[in-house]
Amino acid sequence: MRDRKDIWSALEQRADEMKSQSIASFFQNDSERVQHFSIEAAGLYFDFSKNHFDKPVWDLLLELAKSADLEGARERFLSGEVINSTEGRSVLHPALRDFSHRTYHVDGENIIPKIMHVREQMQDFTRSIHDGSHRGATGKSLTTVVNIGIGGSDLGPLMVVEALRPYWVEGRKSHFISNVDGQHLGDLFETLDPETTLFIIASKTFTTQETMTNARSAREWMLERLGLSGSSDAEKNDAIAKHFVALSTNKKAVEDFGIHEKNMFVFWNWVGGRYSLWSAIGLSIALQVGFENFKSLLRGAHHMDEHFRTAPLDQNLPLAHALVGIWNRNFLGHASLAVLAYDQHLHRLAAYLQQADMESNGKTCDIDGMRVTYDTGPIVFGEPGTNGQHAFYQLLHQGSDIVPADFIASALSHKPLGDHHQKLLANFLAQPRALMLGKNLDDVKEELQLQGYTATQIDVLAPHKVFEGDRPSNAILMEKLTPQTLGALIALYEHKIFCQGVIWNVNSFDQWGVELGKVLAKEILPEITALGEPRDLSQNFDPSTNALLVRINDMRANEEI
Ligand code: F6P
Repeated sequence: MRDRKDIWSALEQRADEMKSQSIASFFQNDSERVQHFSIEAAGLYFDFSKNHFDKPVWDLLLELAKSADLEGARERFLSGEVINSTEGRSVLHPALRDFSHRTYHVDGENIIPKIMHVREQMQDFTRSIHDGSHRGATGKSLTTVVNIGIGGSDLGPLMVVEALRPYWVEGRKSHFISNVDGQHLGDLFETLDPETTLFIIASKTFTTQETMTNARSAREWMLERLGLSGSSDAEKNDAIAKHFVALSTNKKAVEDFGIHEKNMFVFWNWVGGRYSLWSAIGLSIALQVGFENFKSLLRGAHHMDEHFRTAPLDQNLPLAHALVGIWNRNFLGHASLAVLAYDQHLHRLAAYLQQADMESNGKTCDIDGMRVTYDTGPIVFGEPGTNGQHAFYQLLHQGSDIVPADFIASALSHKPLGDHHQKLLANFLAQPRALMLGKNLDDVKEELQLQGYTATQIDVLAPHKVFEGDRPSNAILMEKLTPQTLGALIALYEHKIFCQGVIWNVNSFDQWGVELGKVLAKEILPEITALGEPRDLSQNFDPSTNALLVRINDMRANEEI
């Protein structure tokens, strides 16, 4: 086998050549292109034929994956080796959704019984909330859930709850509070009935500033609104036990907060925050869609895991997705990825994938501590189609940057209203086609002529109507968005991210880049004076920060209290 450097250079050479050919011409040269560049697994059909490469380039990309020992890395990951080297942790979210009776070991201990125990605890709790055997302090059923968490303790469950709207249990409501901005929780308080509200405090570490600040305010609000602020500790504790549960790895911090161990759903440090919706962090999902649907979500992910684990590299869907991304990022120089779900229920998918992808692979330090000499994770963004079409697609079609895109859709809608879904699907098909084919100057001129424009008008207008085309995209199609297909879709992206991390030789499972800002915020916090206090003439930071701080404190001092 050639070594990685040689394959990389060969791919760089082929990139220039590829750019001189159109994507459309690849279809002309290979009548079986769609068959060559599409894979179906776990209920998802993935078409990556509208990309700027031919078969020999694809073979080189597969060789690149082999040279990075993708198969070995996959084995090390799925067998529970400590692949998160900077934190000394295994990465075993697939174990949380493994229905195959396989065993997984961490520090010599089989973790499956622990997983099953928490899953049963979640199931029992879900039942007790749904059948009303667990009630609030005043005896009412708890029909509203407020999940307080941030990052992985928010985005995953929030995205899934929204995506599975057709499966919501009747009469139940869920809210997700993440921002430390008090307006997030404050606005919600105005709509909540404390007697029927359950707060879920979701935090892997149980130390995150945003979550703990929101959790404390929620506790205060609950006690006050239940008229218990001046009551005995026993009465307060009883109310907290009925209205608060915790999802965390940190038992001590949960108890210090005042939540009893029996109201705690644990997970473990081998579950990464952004990979945690399959763990106890999924409790808000189970409460909103029912436990069976939560299990179906896990099953869907497991099907994708089994495919990822066993499919040969050239038939492996997550790897194909990863290699398309590597080609676009490293060899064609495209820095971003648009996630365009033609499904309103997936309206938080792009936000969820921003964390999954950018927190995992937004790295410049490789696994060996060296600065990388190539580009890594792309900038991920997106909005549901067709909304994005009337907003940022202008740039996708005619902007100076080429933005590869994932178009995602279901053939069937849960709400087949008139011809809405046909129109949605027509757009789902038309946009990638327009991106690929574009429209050249001659065609534009001819069209304008037919429309009766004068030669002078045509000269002025025509250049503005040209679409360069050749803009790459993938299509991910499923029959219907169900718990199973959603599980498979999320697992597909998780494994894509893993494969890219292996090829880029970065640790996809740490996130040191989020630390510095947290530390600096702690330093600055005491300098922000209380409302109405005289301004602080801070000289502690850089001149720009000092000046902003002085202004903030001035403005706050002017506030009437
Ligand atoms: O700051 C980043 C981060 O650590 C994410 O990785 C994580 O998902 C989020 O914060 C929330 O962390 P926790 O669940 O520990 O509150």
